[in-house]
Amino acid sequence: MTADTTQPHIGQSAATTHEGILAWVDEVAELTQPDRVHWCTGSDEEWTELTDALVASGTFTRLNADKKPNSFHAASDPTDVARVEDRTFICSVDEKDCGPTNNWMDPQEMKAIMTDLYRGCMRGRTMYVVPFVMGHLEADSPMFGVEITDSAYVVASMRVMARMGSNVLRRMEEVGATFVPALHSVGMPLVDGRADVSWPCNDTKYIVQFPEERMIWSFGSGYGGNALLGKKCYALRIASVMARDEGWLAEHMLILKLTSPEGVRKYIAAAFPSACGKTNLAMLAPTIPGWKVETLGDDIAWMRIGDDGRLYAVNPEFGFFGVAPGTNELTNPNAMRTIDIGNSVFTNVALTDDGDVWWEGLENTPAHATSWKGEDWTPDSDELSSHPNSRYCTPIKQCPILAPEYDDPRGVPIDAILFGGRRKTTVPLVTEARDWTHGTFMGATLSSETTAAAVGQVGVVRRDPMAMLPFIGYNAGDYFNHWITVGKDNDAAKLPKIFYVNWFRRDEDGGFLWPGFGENSRVLKWVVERMEGQAEAVETPIGYVPTPGSLDTDGLDMTEEELAQALAVDVEEWKAEIPQITEWFEKFGENLPAVLWTELDGLKARLGA
Ligand code: GDP
Ligand code: PGA
Ligand code: MN
Ligand code: MN
Repeated sequence: MTADTTQPHIGQSAATTHEGILAWVDEVAELTQPDRVHWCTGSDEEWTELTDALVASGTFTRLNADKKPNSFHAASDPTDVARVEDRTFICSVDEKDCGPTNNWMDPQEMKAIMTDLYRGCMRGRTMYVVPFVMGHLEADSPMFGVEITDSAYVVASMRVMARMGSNVLRRMEEVGATFVPALHSVGMPLVDGRADVSWPCNDTKYIVQFPEERMIWSFGSGYGGNALLGKKCYALRIASVMARDEGWLAEHMLILKLTSPEGVRKYIAAAFPSACGKTNLAMLAPTIPGWKVETLGDDIAWMRIGDDGRLYAVNPEFGFFGVAPGTNELTNPNAMRTIDIGNSVFTNVALTDDGDVWWEGLENTPAHATSWKGEDWTPDSDELSSHPNSRYCTPIKQCPILAPEYDDPRGVPIDAILFGGRRKTTVPLVTEARDWTHGTFMGATLSSETTAAAVGQVGVVRRDPMAMLPFIGYNAGDYFNHWITVGKDNDAAKLPKIFYVNWFRRDEDGGFLWPGFGENSRVLKWVVERMEGQAEAVETPIGYVPTPGSLDTDGLDMTEEELAQALAVDVEEWKAEIPQITEWFEKFGENLPAVLWTELDGLKARLGA
């Protein structure tokens, strides 16, 4: 596009020489009609301006600097609190490539609908251009993106969650980088004298990935997973498609470094569905003496086979977007230290009278607070002070146990992968897979109760393969095949060992059988000792489970019977899973790798089903 003085970015010092970005920004400005365009630099001055403006508009409340410096409280519209899976689409050219687990619409049809929605949607607002990179700017091929958004809340959150700003833009210009265009609007133009609200959004929502074009369009929501487009939309949905095409893995996994008292060092990645314990495990404070955990990532892992044949993982993100309720000094002291430093955004938690934040499960229950809905709240209130999916958004660099390898663009070689879900019954505390293919079967059949991280009913058991159900950007049958291929094409001895965990099994009274949190270090210890050939296991129909004596229970407040219940493999319960797994696999027709049917046959035979 030629220079046109009516284009709002002209004359802005930060505007770019990158023609592709410029052309796209012009095109979007033309369509959405913002009052002004702001090219984000990522500077401290910009952060101050943005957060001041968010305070002035009522979106942010500045927290008491003695409690949480440079930190802010935000309350969303009560209808805009979580990811919207039924409004999330994979618009592949061919419907088959979307697969049976995603919503599909023809890309042309979707573009027509959304172009209508986007037309004039930024009137009265500022359009922000956010250049960002997922992963390291120094990576061999940096993974660039540009998010255009009309939400200052999104810009502030993006600055915490992703490497963004002028230095990223300059690098993109230098190398003439290709990038993922990611367009976001809250969908509430300020027209006809309409006053702004503290949390603009629209009842009509679309979260759309165009996998072939590597492009993202999002409309109507300001919530993190729907609006911070570098995270779920790019680093999982679009990246999983890139990973399929290029032979790597983009996964919904935390990454941690574990060091034993003897100095044995292991890197562990773990995939649990949203709100099933990734952030807590990533920052685990071990209860067993001498063991040390360091954090590399809490939500997303990009993994590639290195020159030495091992699987290397990097965390593409720059911050934590953690579930607030349940976070406290006992469950996650390292998260508490991270947010204490400040520089954070808290969304949909309670605001205390002394200008701090509070949520269910946190210490020092206030006598009075303002709930996430803006209502008076006391400990006697019938309603929760905080939404169950309320979140803290905080810089990863503030984590006191951040592993130094976090800054290494080569990543860390993964020794073990844990799959896990939230199951009241059936699934034992920990199971070791026999081999990669069996581990892939475990991942492909992973089941978990739904949580508040997505809009919809909570507590319903569903299959959530590799904890990626809402994030696989293509046909999940092909995704399973990709996992199987990684196993086939590489040296099995060098690939991570696979385990399946469940922290959430219940006793007859409905209480958790396993204390969880820091005590999960006992399970990690068993995992390490299995890899070192030290710990005992019993072979069961579903895999290897700890013998009662092989799990370190020193100082653990649990009876032998409770432990046995947590570890039990109940053949009848497992037989009941078979029809569900069969039905699940049948969904994928010819796209399901045949070896997964073979795994299921093997399981049936061992169960006598
Ligand atoms: P993520 O969304 O996967 O990162 O999950 P989080 O680590 O944020 O945890 C989600 C919820 O599960 C929080 O309310 C936690 O307090 C709770 N949780 C995490 N780990 C455990 C555990 O080991 N046991 C139990 N019972 N709850 C846990
Ligand atoms: P979570 O991340 O996995 O920490 O819950 C957000 C999400 O998956 O929606
Ligand atoms: Mn997640
Ligand atoms: Mn998390």
